[in-house]
Amino acid sequence: MIALGCDHGGFVLKEAIKKYLEEKNIEYKDFGTYSEESVNYAPYAYRVAKAVADGKAEKGILCCGTGIGISIAANKVKGIRAAVCTNEFCAEMTRKHNDSNILCMGGRVIDAEKAVRLVDIYLNTEFEGGRHIPRINEIAAIENGEEL
Ligand code: RB5
Repeated sequence: MIALGCDHGGFVLKEAIKKYLEEKNIEYKDFGTYSEESVNYAPYAYRVAKAVADGKAEKGILCCGTGIGISIAANKVKGIRAAVCTNEFCAEMTRKHNDSNILCMGGRVIDAEKAVRLVDIYLNTEFEGGRHIPRINEIAAIENGEEL
């Protein structure tokens, strides 16, 4: 299951992504928001991030105006590696190198067509492992209060 969330600035992207997931028969849960009425992004980031961190969702997708605020909020949840992506290269590399588990995008930065392309790449790219594993482990060490 893919967990989806957005604020008003990312609503249009989220709706386009839902359509893509339906066409591909990919199961998803929409955590809102459900309109373009102004809302704060942190609660949506939190609900999606919790679903991913708890293993209820394989991956998450979050959209706000820039993708930045919602990613900062999601990254406060332990186990989350949320990445803001604005192009195809970043969507691919953040899976291959960062094993990122939430893709964040901005509705005021990219259009829906591009967002769907990034989602397609993101969901179809595997983590490379190898030399990137200790790097991911160091991120987890920071979360655990360890000194690096
Ligand atoms: C909302 O106006 C906007 O600040 C929000 O969508 C996001 O871009 C924050 O990072």
